[in-house]
Amino acid sequence: MVSASAPADAPVGIFDSGIGGLTVVAAVLRALPDERVTYLGDTARVPYGPKGADTVRRYSVQIAEWLVSQGVKAIVIACNTATAHALETVRAHVNVPVIGVIDPGADAAVVATRSGRIGVIGTSGTIASGAYERAIAARRADAHVAARACPLFVPLVEEGWTDHPATRLVAATYLEGLHDAAVDTLVLGCTHYPLLAPVIAEVMGPGVTLVDSAAETARALAQVLEARRLRAPSADHASVQHRFVATDAPDAFLRVGQRFLGAALRDVEVVHFT
Ligand code: DGL
Repeated sequence: MVSASAPADAPVGIFDSGIGGLTVVAAVLRALPDERVTYLGDTARVPYGPKGADTVRRYSVQIAEWLVSQGVKAIVIACNTATAHALETVRAHVNVPVIGVIDPGADAAVVATRSGRIGVIGTSGTIASGAYERAIAARRADAHVAARACPLFVPLVEEGWTDHPATRLVAATYLEGLHDAAVDTLVLGCTHYPLLAPVIAEVMGPGVTLVDSAAETARALAQVLEARRLRAPSADHASVQHRFVATDAPDAFLRVGQRFLGAALRDVEVVHFT
């Protein structure tokens, strides 16, 4: 157990397997503009989606302990795969509050659905873990969940093919079963999928609500900070300094990350984990 009792003006730690978790950072900066963020993207070891649960747990604990060593007051696991495999393990290793993206996503899904028929898409690891099914069943026992791994979506987004005929074909193939299952709500259970929302919406049709857990996760973070009296004091928002750290290829991180975050992302540090 890594101990810490960080003050309210300490940063919030957020991590992901790569840059995708910046969608969660953007939501946190919108909802909690006084908060400082220390973000780590594990660009040396991305993707987590196809990796085994033990490996993802080991990486996640390493990163969480590093974030605590940097003085964070809370940790958000922005990666769905890391949340699915490692949320409880990370909680057992650090004594700052730890929030994942799956519970907030499940909360949003049960609010959004009318029929109780909910689709979930994610990486192979997230879907194989069954974590979304469990989280949704805990909130609405009569919900019917149809889940589908969509492993090609992450490389398509990384390639920038968010609006490409090949992506449309892949999406139509992956989503056919969910369409047939008559879901009225579809959880985008992966950091990268919000960038494919237009294509996914087109394939699923207008009757299906897409759930992106980033905004809901920011709300959950606000509640946890409030409950523990850890909200940052009011600040001049332009002067709030964030830290962005990658484990490899900081230049690519900076270039792509600025598309998500603009001026909030000025430079990228590098740390190496062995
Ligand atoms: N961040 C991962 C997730 O949300 C997607 C990328 C990866 O496979 O590492 O599941």
